[in-house]
Amino acid sequence: MPERFDTLPCRDALQRPLHDLRISVTDRCNLRCAYCMPREVFGRDFVFLHHDALLRFEEILRLARQCVALGVRKIRLSGGEPLLRRGIERLVEMLATLTTLEARPLEVAMTTNGTLLAKKARDLKNAGLARLNISLDALDEAVFQRATGGNAPLAAVLEGIAAAQAAGLAPIKINVVVKRGINEDHILPLAARFRHSGIIVRFIEFMDAGTRTGWRLDDVVAARDILATLHARYPLRALDAQYPGEVAKRWQYTDGAGEIGVIASVTQAFCHECSRLRLSTDGKLYTCLFASEGADLRAPLRAGEDDEALRNRIAAIWHARSGRYSQLRHAMRAAPTGRIEMSYIGG
Ligand code: GTP
Ligand code: 5AD
Ligand code: SF4
Ligand code: SF4
Repeated sequence: MPERFDTLPCRDALQRPLHDLRISVTDRCNLRCAYCMPREVFGRDFVFLHHDALLRFEEILRLARQCVALGVRKIRLSGGEPLLRRGIERLVEMLATLTTLEARPLEVAMTTNGTLLAKKARDLKNAGLARLNISLDALDEAVFQRATGGNAPLAAVLEGIAAAQAAGLAPIKINVVVKRGINEDHILPLAARFRHSGIIVRFIEFMDAGTRTGWRLDDVVAARDILATLHARYPLRALDAQYPGEVAKRWQYTDGAGEIGVIASVTQAFCHECSRLRLSTDGKLYTCLFASEGADLRAPLRAGEDDEALRNRIAAIWHARSGRYSQLRHAMRAAPTGRIEMSYIGG
């Protein structure tokens, strides 16, 4: 029997509290971003999870409820591309009924590539979705196509963003993964486009997640350099984090045009306050984005384990957690093999 939890929120072996749960609802995606699902690897022959392997919405809700009882305050749905999961609005609606330990409504958010959003934004809002983060790597059609694999027009994402704004899904954040030689020249145009819009653009260092993207340190544009580019054109001042464990460092334009962020997981690791637990599409719990092994919850769930036993199981996993890959990365001779793919765990 796993050990019992006695203090809330649950703390791990490094005293980090459990605050966020990221749930991947599909390992499939309609795009093929080079930094996540390169087309050469995720081609016709790639074997995705079988439908029976996926947690059903009721199963996700049960596990989410146990995590919320252990201190989770925010759930972020991801993929692959979460809008490919049929009926995803229903899952949002189910999760949005949960309340946190402080008796506040649980925040249900989503990270999406935006290509299917134009039709869905209103329904997601009505279902209780609080916020959306949308990937967009360039405003130039050719660069966008090169970055995302050429399956969808840039206009689809721009329409998705407009629909999300019209639906009141604020604040919208735009995620830009900066990769050397691909889009580092597009930092300023992206910033310019969303100044004065209320939309927060976040520039993300290309990470060595998974083992199939051909990641090289040389392809990483350091947050320091991204900020220098921005600051030279649009002076910035630092803002405080909005919540403990926020991965983005926030900055404000000094001329009042709004906010931007940088996510520097390679050059300025933030593991010391990482409060995230990740649930994969097939019901495995991962305590780090760079883990190789997850703890299977689907088998006990389907074997009829009751809520208390499931909760104790999750608490024990969090208590034992000591991973801090990004902080150790540079001291390691070689990255661990078998790391889970970004498209499987959802970032
Ligand atoms: P907010 O709730 O808006 O703060 O969202 P978020 O930034 O936590 O989530 P999002 O899905 O938009 O992720 C933005 C980037 O941060 C992606 O590149 C993620 O892979 C990365 N990221 C999110 N959480 C972690 C983490 O715990 N560790 C690392 N290394 N990267 C993370
Ligand atoms: N490095 C950094 N961010 C990545 N994302 C996907 N792959 C990587 C990577 N290798 C981002 C996507 C999406 C979020 C879930 O993770 O752009 O916005
Ligand atoms: Fe799809 Fe997002 Fe991965 Fe791009 S980063 S391939 S949109 S899951
Ligand atoms: Fe958290 Fe692992 Fe990312 Fe560090 S590398 S911030 S421990 S998920």
